[in-house]
Amino acid sequence: METRFLLNGEPRVAATDATVTLLDWLREEARLTGTKEGCNEGDCGACTVMVTDADGTSRALNACILFMGQLEGRAVRTVEGIAGPGGEMHPVQEAMVAHHGSQCGFCTPGFVVSMAVAHLNGRRDHDDQLAGNLCRCTGYAPIVRAAEAAEDAPVPDWMRQDAETLGDPAFIFPQIRPSGAPPAVSPTSSDALAEWYAAHPDAALIAGATDVGLWVTKGLRDLAPVAFLNRCADLRRIVSDTETIRIGATVTMTELGAVFADRHPSLAELIRRYGSVQVRNAATIGGNIANGSPIGDSPPALIALGARLHLRKGEARREMPLEAFFLEYGKQDRAPGEFVEAVSVPVQADRLACYKLSKRFDQDISAVCGCFNVTVEEGVVTAARIAFGGMAGVPKRAAAVEAALLGQPWSEATVTAAQARFAEDFTPLSDMRASAAYRLRAAEGMLMRYFRESRGEAVSVLEVRV
Ligand SMILES: Cc1cc2nc3c(=O)[nH]c(=O)nc-3n(C[C@H](O)[C@H](O)[C@H](O)COP(=O)(O)OP(=O)(O)OC[C@H]3O[C@@H](n4cnc5c(N)ncnc54)[C@H](O)[C@@H]3O)c2cc1C
Ligand code: FES
Ligand code: FES
Repeated sequence: METRFLLNGEPRVAATDATVTLLDWLREEARLTGTKEGCNEGDCGACTVMVTDADGTSRALNACILFMGQLEGRAVRTVEGIAGPGGEMHPVQEAMVAHHGSQCGFCTPGFVVSMAVAHLNGRRDHDDQLAGNLCRCTGYAPIVRAAEAAEDAPVPDWMRQDAETLGDPAFIFPQIRPSGAPPAVSPTSSDALAEWYAAHPDAALIAGATDVGLWVTKGLRDLAPVAFLNRCADLRRIVSDTETIRIGATVTMTELGAVFADRHPSLAELIRRYGSVQVRNAATIGGNIANGSPIGDSPPALIALGARLHLRKGEARREMPLEAFFLEYGKQDRAPGEFVEAVSVPVQADRLACYKLSKRFDQDISAVCGCFNVTVEEGVVTAARIAFGGMAGVPKRAAAVEAALLGQPWSEATVTAAQARFAEDFTPLSDMRASAAYRLRAAEGMLMRYFRESRGEAVSVLEVRV
């Protein structure tokens, strides 16, 4: 497959297998070795690059789990292009020097790119912006001081150049030749995707590649044929009216967090703790559902909100409550050639609370993720939707707990009685993240936490003070 993109401002045509990672291509073909390989699985940020879309949005992404086939029509800026064309240092680079932000230096290119993208986008929440970049020797204080010191420096012209070039109607990428490589398609609409996928039902769909990337870098799998979803413009839409918010399958976690920031802040906070900036900028809602993971963070929250899933195969469409999609571990209600088109969430008053329990606060997978949406009218529970990740082979509702709450006074006695019902709903596993007993106990605690929070008590580790 040939892929056309801008590399540090210059048009490039890369002839590679579509599932070669950008990191490998940069280091082995382009010989741009500033971008480092640390973990090769999206965890450390040493490989961070800036990617700009045709709409002018620039974001930090991990090059180790970004396939060449995802770059068509986009612009990539590596650490070599963060410095100016004449070798001028970017303000964040100057600040890193001035504040002693680097020791061994292995993590530094990744930090510099993350900091430069945050600087371009006017972000000052440095702890969040840098949570996906790991530094083993310098420590974060000097790095964050450097990011703060650069905040008010003007954005250098070259950092806006990619958006300007892609947005210029006179700019045209060079023509490409059809290649004899294994089939890889990059459709620009869901209609085109539906037609192709119905004809190639064994193909791998690649959305953000935050799962699929690891199948290649760690599983060494050959994925052909593949379809990249990132150019299907209509799958990226968010449409809302007074009753429903419909979220297209390739909406990223970053975008999802923004959609729910005002409507359901607890969901937005859950998403803030989902992977890192780089992972959230790539991972899609469709991928987080379709992978069927029992520990995916968005399904329990969306199930608690009463979301419906929209599937499409060829011209045929169907929809279902999201919880019905997850049949058993590793098995979803999705036919060959069928894909997730969207998920829709009813507009409702905000009663949602999401509690993510993980060994590390930032950038970690949930051991247990509990999401609660309980309606209380005149002191009595009139509706309850409670869903968990990490408690079963699939994201699952706590039906017995919900039943124990319904019609009861919203009181500590009711909640205590309902806690005993978790053992009917779930038989969790013991694994490296948590034991079965701990998971059950944590779920019970989360219900009480929700009750106390509904009474206005501080329950978050970020709020509780001794
Ligand atoms: C460092 C790191 C941290 C992470 N942290 C978290 C975390 O905190 N919480 C969490 O929940 N997950 C986390 N993940 C897992 C991952 O981000 C999610 O599962 C992600 O949502 C997958 O989405 P994607 O778009 O990247 O999917 P992809 O990797 O592109 O695809 C995943 C699967 O879904 C299929 N697929 C994708 N889109 C569709 C579609 N529209 N229709 C049908 N099938 C489709 C693919 O074929 C594939 O089988 C993390 C991953 C990494 C690498
Ligand atoms: S090498 Fe660690 S995130 Fe890419
Ligand atoms: S400076 Fe050595 S890992 Fe950060």
